[in-house]
Amino acid sequence: MSLISFKKPIKNFIVLEGLDGCGTTTQTALLVKKLEDCGIKGYSTKEPTDGSIGRFIRSVLQKKESVDPFTLALLFSADRNEHVYGKNGIIEQTQAGKMVVCDRYFFSSLAYQSLFIDYDTVADLNRFYPLPEYLFYIDLSPEECQARVESRGEETELFEHLELQRKIDANYKKSLSLLAASEMKTVVIDGRGSIEDIHNQICKALDLTA
Ligand code: TYD
Repeated sequence: MSLISFKKPIKNFIVLEGLDGCGTTTQTALLVKKLEDCGIKGYSTKEPTDGSIGRFIRSVLQKKESVDPFTLALLFSADRNEHVYGKNGIIEQTQAGKMVVCDRYFFSSLAYQSLFIDYDTVADLNRFYPLPEYLFYIDLSPEECQARVESRGEETELFEHLELQRKIDANYKKSLSLLAASEMKTVVIDGRGSIEDIHNQICKALDLTA
């Protein structure tokens, strides 16, 4: 197994990750609201972003466009570069004193893009980006996640298939173990609880009590 070298963690930067259907989007919104309730300025963001590269990526995820898997990995990295270093980006927001909460980050690239291209290559394309201060991994089985995705009754996206979810789950676990010794604080959350339950687990880890 490879050793991953990313840039050192930046303070006040929180990332939520997990399989499609595990609830990162809901939990990101709840956490930012909680931060505000506690008098902390929060900033909610996500990847892929709403910028032009992110919008193109979404059209690939919705199967309206098709690109080579390596191109997709490059696109996610390019979208991320703007997101981290660009105008109003993550660095700027943290420097303005905000607590940035991000729904998915390069851990998603490591988990999803390495389905089709070499894991180390994906890691290499993401070596430019800082680790977050906190990584919350919402751990829920591929079967449960896929059932939730299908119960939405929407057209499934590129990666929303059980066989793929199982491989993505294994890739996430590989990253968690490779990054265990990093300076980032990693918190694995039991995703089987209610929305409130999961929110409380996250708040507890961050010492948010208001
Ligand atoms: P998701 O976060 O579920 O957003 P939405 O519900 O709005 O579609 O979808 C993003 C998808 O993109 C998800 O399947 C994970 C995938 N993804 C990657 O493959 N690589 C990445 O680097 C990121 C950030 C996401």
